[in-house]
Amino acid sequence: MEKKVSLMNCLIVLLVLGLCQISMASIEKMKKNVQKKTYIVHMAKSEMPASFDDHTHWYDSSLKSVSDSAEMLYTYSNVVHGFSTRLTADEAQSLKNQPGILSVLPEMKYKLHTTRSPQFLGLDKTTNLFPQSNSVSDVIVGVLDTGVWPESKSYDDTGLGPIPSSWNGACESGTNFTSSNCNRKLIGARYFSRGYEATLGSIDISRESKSPRDDDGHGSHTSSTAAGSVVANASLFGYAAGTARGMAAGARLAVYKVCWIGGCFSSDILAGMDKAIDDNVNVLSLSLGGGMSDYYRDSVAIGAFAATEKGILVSCSAGNAGPSPYSLSNVAPWITTVGAGTLDRDFPAYVSLGNGMNYSGVSLYKGESLPSKMLPFVYAGNASNSTSGNLCMNGTLIPEKVRGKIVMCDRGVSPRVQKGAVVKAAGGAGMVLANTAANGEELVADAHLLPATTVGQKSGDSIKNYLFSDPNPMVTILFEGTKVGVEPSPVVAAFSSRGPNLITPEILKPDFIAPGVNIIAGWSGSVGPSGLVDDTRRVGFNIISGTSMSCPHVSGLAALLKAAHPEWSPGAIRSALMTTAYTAYKNGNLLEDIAVGKPSTAFDHGAGHVDPVSALNPGLVYDLDVNDYLGFLCALNYTASQISTLARTNFTCDPTKKYSLTDLNYPSFSVALQSPQMGSGGSGGGGSTVVKFSRTLTNVGSPATYNVSINLQSKSVKASIVPESLSFTQSNEKKSYTVTFTAGPMPSNSFEFGYMKWSDGNHIVGSPIAISWT
Ligand SMILES: *[C@@H]1O[C@H](CO)[C@@H](O)[C@H](O)[C@H]1NC(C)=O
Ligand SMILES: *[C@@H]1O[C@H](CO)[C@@H](O)[C@H](O)[C@H]1NC(C)=O
Ligand SMILES: *[C@@H]1O[C@H](CO)[C@@H](O)[C@H](O)[C@H]1NC(C)=O
Ligand SMILES: *[C@@H]1O[C@H](CO)[C@@H](O)[C@H](O)[C@H]1NC(C)=O
Ligand SMILES: *[C@@H]1O[C@H](CO)[C@@H](O)[C@H](O)[C@H]1NC(C)=O
Ligand SMILES: *[C@@H]1O[C@H](CO)[C@@H](O)[C@H](O)[C@H]1NC(C)=O
Ligand SMILES: *[C@@H]1O[C@H](CO)[C@@H](O)[C@H](O)[C@H]1NC(C)=O
Ligand SMILES: *[C@@H]1O[C@H](CO)[C@@H](O)[C@H](O)[C@H]1NC(C)=O
Ligand SMILES: *[C@@H]1O[C@H](CO)[C@@H](O)[C@H](O)[C@H]1NC(C)=O
Repeated sequence: MEKKVSLMNCLIVLLVLGLCQISMASIEKMKKNVQKKTYIVHMAKSEMPASFDDHTHWYDSSLKSVSDSAEMLYTYSNVVHGFSTRLTADEAQSLKNQPGILSVLPEMKYKLHTTRSPQFLGLDKTTNLFPQSNSVSDVIVGVLDTGVWPESKSYDDTGLGPIPSSWNGACESGTNFTSSNCNRKLIGARYFSRGYEATLGSIDISRESKSPRDDDGHGSHTSSTAAGSVVANASLFGYAAGTARGMAAGARLAVYKVCWIGGCFSSDILAGMDKAIDDNVNVLSLSLGGGMSDYYRDSVAIGAFAATEKGILVSCSAGNAGPSPYSLSNVAPWITTVGAGTLDRDFPAYVSLGNGMNYSGVSLYKGESLPSKMLPFVYAGNASNSTSGNLCMNGTLIPEKVRGKIVMCDRGVSPRVQKGAVVKAAGGAGMVLANTAANGEELVADAHLLPATTVGQKSGDSIKNYLFSDPNPMVTILFEGTKVGVEPSPVVAAFSSRGPNLITPEILKPDFIAPGVNIIAGWSGSVGPSGLVDDTRRVGFNIISGTSMSCPHVSGLAALLKAAHPEWSPGAIRSALMTTAYTAYKNGNLLEDIAVGKPSTAFDHGAGHVDPVSALNPGLVYDLDVNDYLGFLCALNYTASQISTLARTNFTCDPTKKYSLTDLNYPSFSVALQSPQMGSGGSGGGGSTVVKFSRTLTNVGSPATYNVSINLQSKSVKASIVPESLSFTQSNEKKSYTVTFTAGPMPSNSFEFGYMKWSDGNHIVGSPIAISWT
């Protein structure tokens, strides 16, 4: 405030003196200096002067030394030693130079990565393999998202015993939400809006509840997917009818609302993770992500480091930026990164053309049906005076050209259901939505507001050929309801973000895929199934797609594994899920990538598709603890203050020790090479490069001897493993091995893949291998 006033005074003085030549640029520069932004301030707690008896006083005094007026938004105690506050750029700069400050990072905005899946994962036949419900009911899954709609049947607590004694959280009240909205299923609910409101102003409670209440639907969907109760007769307009249940239907839920209409702000995300740790959750689920940045700048990675250290598994969505390569988010090796695949369920809605041809599409439309006769058909690009008329954007269709017709629109730019709303508003009778190259043959079903279906790119092209060649094109859409047993399934979703890992090429991500296409789960009563403002329909369950949906599947599975093996670390749980994941169908064919219609690679599916029943009994695990992650940060050559920002300790790398990224005890292998043009020296001679990995396996099964085998689909790379056999005589015994890859030169952007497995005849402990030359 003070500075703002002085700027105004200064401008007035300048104007009064007639010095009007000051450039706009210099005014902008002055404005920038007084404009406050949110910063997250990381403090080196070990450097607190002895004169302070309490670290919060020290934080306060450090802040006051650069700004009298700045107030703390949050003080963090678990995920960060420090606080968040509003500062001008100058204040932030001078705070950086104060003693005891590790870093002053500008806030970032994150976004959401928007009843058959239990059977699909094999969880129905084998419920008795999983621990009895009382041990699952001790596990608490924390979900950071848009909140919760507590009236949903997914939070019915019938049959659940008392809240676990470990629980230390709360049920906060606010707009349309009281502590009585929590129960023995939904045991906690909190909201974090200070960072959001500091940037975007006070929450307008006519648009969103200032409370844990979910006005969006996303948070209710993700939390009920992870640990929702069993709900009989769930469906969306009759689609996907059946029993809906969360993956860990007996576990408890704690929701942390950190996402609002304007996005998810990192100061709020950190506050949510900080509280979740205090509250004693066992698993954290975050279906959100930001841009790609180094781990010490990324609030989700920072919060996840502390959570992992406390034994909490952090499961995150990989992102929906596929099928482009290098499109992953949440790639820190202490985070479990989940991509998306399809289920064996579909919602067919055929396009039947006047020439007798049929094309299959998908739809969740329910409402007035089309007339039984065919209707005239028009391509939106021919019914618009806009160059992007084919996209059916608001206001681009010419009503006279679409009235009473079925309109074909191309996918992209605007929301799919909104395109149908645009067609409807212009007087159209129905819509055929065609994928473009960005989505290939991937079919995502939508609860359209008018009779509509989505077809793949190839069908779309054929339909367009008909549209452009027939002088009087005619069409109708035939809705066929729900079909199960679709093959092949799963296939990697086109939208699922892909490797290579841009931040650390030596770590293969995603870790695996899980169901994320056309998933049914609980919804909010504040919003229709399409999420559009104009959609006045209200539903108890909704069917949506995204890595946002695959992440909570894994969060729930991790809760089941935690209940079965309470002593397993987050690294061990992830290892069990990775080494037992499958990469081929029952007929032996490799999992397909729907974006290209070809076999997918480890950059698309990581270790493969999760197989929770096998993960219960993996035989061996690659365990990891905080010291392994600290060694990894040393191998990244992070500075002491970058490491302290993540680890909150005065840890220093041992200068006499050789740290290597390839020695992190990860269950997968990424061989990141430089192509010869870049002048790689190589240590193998003859132009070849040698990369050595060391790994340690822990026996979590009976005594057994495991032999290794490796399958490298490569002529340019050789691998040798030492030793080739490991004998375990007791449980928790550890044995180490090395694998050395000798790679010949290859042009830049070459990729090769392989698979290594240890087997004792009963278990297969598999690891994907990706080799890249860049
Ligand atoms: C942090 O560690 C460094 C290196 O070991 C040491 O020089 C420094 O005194 C330590 N700081 C505190 C406050 O313990
Ligand atoms: C609170 O809930 C009532 C009833 O469900 C609803 O009418 C009202 O709009 C809600 N208010 C807000 C701010 O969401
Ligand atoms: C499910 O719906 C069917 C048909 O509407 C009904 O017969 C059955 O009792 C319902 N089951 C439950 C558990 O509500
Ligand atoms: C297209 O579907 C309709 C309705 O199911 C059917 O009557 C017709 O024979 C089909 N045409 C072709 C070419 O398959
Ligand atoms: C419709 O649009 C397509 C593609 O833009 C074009 O090839 C075709 O000539 C147009 N047809 C008419 C009747 O304008
Ligand atoms: C395009 O079409 C719309 C709707 O018919 C009309 O309002 C608009 O004036 C047209 N624009 C141009 C540039 O012709
Ligand atoms: C189109 O835009 C107008 C003005 O922004 C808005 O009122 C209307 O709801 C939009 N219509 C659709 C179908 O999105
Ligand atoms: C870290 O520094 C060492 C020594 O300079 C170098 O060999 C290595 O490539 C660096 N690692 C990374 C990940 O930059
Ligand atoms: C492992 O290899 C040894 C020696 O070749 C062999 O005797 C043993 O049967 C193998 N075990 C398994 C489980 O394949």
